Amino acid sequence: MPPAAGDAPSTGTSPRDNNAKVYRGSAVAAGYGRETLLTRVEAVALLKYQTAFAGKDVLDVGVGAGRTTPYLAPLARHYQAVDYSPAMVARVRTAFPGVSVALADMTDLHGFGDAGFDFVFASNNVFDAVGHEDRLRTLRGIHRILRHDGVLMFSGHNRDVRHAMQWPRPVVSRNPVTQMRHLFYWGVSLVNHARLRKAQTVRADHAIINDSAHDWSMLHYYIGPNEQARQLADEGFRLIEIFDQMGTPVATGDRATHSRSLLYVAQRVTIE
Ligand SMILES: C[S@@+](CC[C@H](N)C(=O)[O-])C[C@H]1O[C@@H](n2cnc3c(N)ncnc32)[C@H](O)[C@@H]1O
Repeated sequence: MPPAAGDAPSTGTSPRDNNAKVYRGSAVAAGYGRETLLTRVEAVALLKYQTAFAGKDVLDVGVGAGRTTPYLAPLARHYQAVDYSPAMVARVRTAFPGVSVALADMTDLHGFGDAGFDFVFASNNVFDAVGHEDRLRTLRGIHRILRHDGVLMFSGHNRDVRHAMQWPRPVVSRNPVTQMRHLFYWGVSLVNHARLRKAQTVRADHAIINDSAHDWSMLHYYIGPNEQARQLADEGFRLIEIFDQMGTPVATGDRATHSRSLLYVAQRVTIE
């Protein structure tokens, strides 16, 4: 079992710094630029909660190359996107010239005033790109910039999914050229995993896991739905609903072990 530790494990590899290197790469940004569709769960949740953002002020956190922009921006009164990767921000500016996008770190939203947004969206596990303290800092910043009763919709890796921690496995193909490619990327993945597995950490309420994303080059925060509900309550949010990857609502207390990622809808409440 990996050692328990905080944001900067004994290896000195913090999730934030490690993942920032990956997201700043222009090839990674180009890959996100090829994605143009909503996922099923995003479509289900955005349709259901359309009144939370239609005609409202919207912040799209960790917007990437702007996959979600054309779905939110036309309906919003004002749509603002942020990302800390210059390569991602450049892609949004090119693809959506009229859209306001800022280079900003979600852990430090001081550039935005108090209570300026009605809806904050952070899809595709954006919050999981940082460690525990940075995640709490992000939630506090979002609480500050959301209006009373504002809605936060975000997705995150599920700590309770079956086989959360794995090793890179070889993929087999009958095509020799494809097989060579698989072998190459398996080698890259093994090297990355050998480097990052020591930075994995397991805590009672969450874990930092080196998963298969980007050839095993990332460190992601994983948390179960019950622990996420508690964390949201601690930071001044009332959990409204959880969806699994297929867009099916998750019942209160269900650990949703079939779903690697979960989408949360929460409402800002005033902390007394
Ligand atoms: C998995 S991608 C998702 C992109 C986009 N939301 C989508 O669904 O297509 C995560 C994005 O979050 C951004 N990101 C990660 N950590 C961030 C941080 N601390 N501040 C701002 N953006 C961050 C990355 O640069 C990347 O664009």
